[in-house]
Amino acid sequence: MINAIVKCTKLQKLTPEVYKLSFKSKKIAKLSKPGQFLNIKISDSFLPFLRRPFSIYDINGDIVSIIFNVVGEGTKVLAKKNIGSNLDVIGPCGNSFPFEKIDNNKNLFIIAGGLGVAPFPFVTRYLQNYKKIETLLGARNKSFIVKNGLKNISVATEDGSIGKKGNVLDLLKSKKFKSIISNSIIFTCGPHKMMHAIAEFAKSKNIPCFASLECDMACGIGLCQGCNMELKNGSTKYILVCKNGPILETSQIKF
Ligand SMILES: Cc1cc2nc3c(=O)[nH]c(=O)nc-3n(C[C@H](O)[C@H](O)[C@H](O)COP(=O)(O)OP(=O)(O)OC[C@H]3O[C@@H](n4cnc5c(N)ncnc54)[C@H](O)[C@@H]3O)c2cc1C
Ligand code: FES
Repeated sequence: MINAIVKCTKLQKLTPEVYKLSFKSKKIAKLSKPGQFLNIKISDSFLPFLRRPFSIYDINGDIVSIIFNVVGEGTKVLAKKNIGSNLDVIGPCGNSFPFEKIDNNKNLFIIAGGLGVAPFPFVTRYLQNYKKIETLLGARNKSFIVKNGLKNISVATEDGSIGKKGNVLDLLKSKKFKSIISNSIIFTCGPHKMMHAIAEFAKSKNIPCFASLECDMACGIGLCQGCNMELKNGSTKYILVCKNGPILETSQIKF
């Protein structure tokens, strides 16, 4: 993990709601693994005071990208960055998805809700020779669906503006996947309510499921104790999401 001042090389809109911001950093590009995140100081002023965490969306050569939508003060400022403006980035932070759990006979279900899609183009790039990926995207409407860099995509939206009308759990339970689900592993990221439902489904099918958790963070590197979370059971009852996560097996998570 390093702390670097980097220059914004591109800011583009992927959809009416979703921005992609890129910067150049040879070191961060080299160190990063899929699932890890960056803790970004959005501006030089005190507002917003705390850094904001963003999953690493993709790495292409030395170019590192994140995606976001505007939800509050920090993302509002980020959406107005100019090419060449400085960003103070700490990363890569946290753990990566557990690729050692995948073998070539298993199907990998990537299941994302809204901007929870953010870590998965990097996951897909990392697994480029892996054939058995199914990607399930769910969102409020088509403005939150980002398909770039993903494989074998099925989509559900709450308003039916693209894909099936419904949610990702409806997709997962659909006929299309019935015959392959028992020999699968799930990587998921999105709202906790959605991940909880996916986790319950995985439990009922007795298949492993790993979720990338979201919570408010401050330091992002295990110092402030601001992101501690109680586990369901086990010897270590509390963990720091920024340090021991953000990716955990769902059987450990107290949703
Ligand atoms: C490990 C990790 C990776 C993340 N990756 C991404 C990403 O790739 N793209 C992305 O857009 N967002 C991501 N997030 C969420 C992102 O960090 C927050 O959306 C961001 O901090 C909001 O900052 P803000 O100043 O704009 O909003 P704030 O002013 O801080 O908050 C505005 C509103 O959003 C709510 N909010 C803030 N943070 C979260 C959160 N984490 N979950 C749910 N609600 C929240 C607040 O309660 C408030 O209502 C990630 C979070 C974590 C922990
Ligand atoms: S955010 Fe500071 S310890 Fe996790």
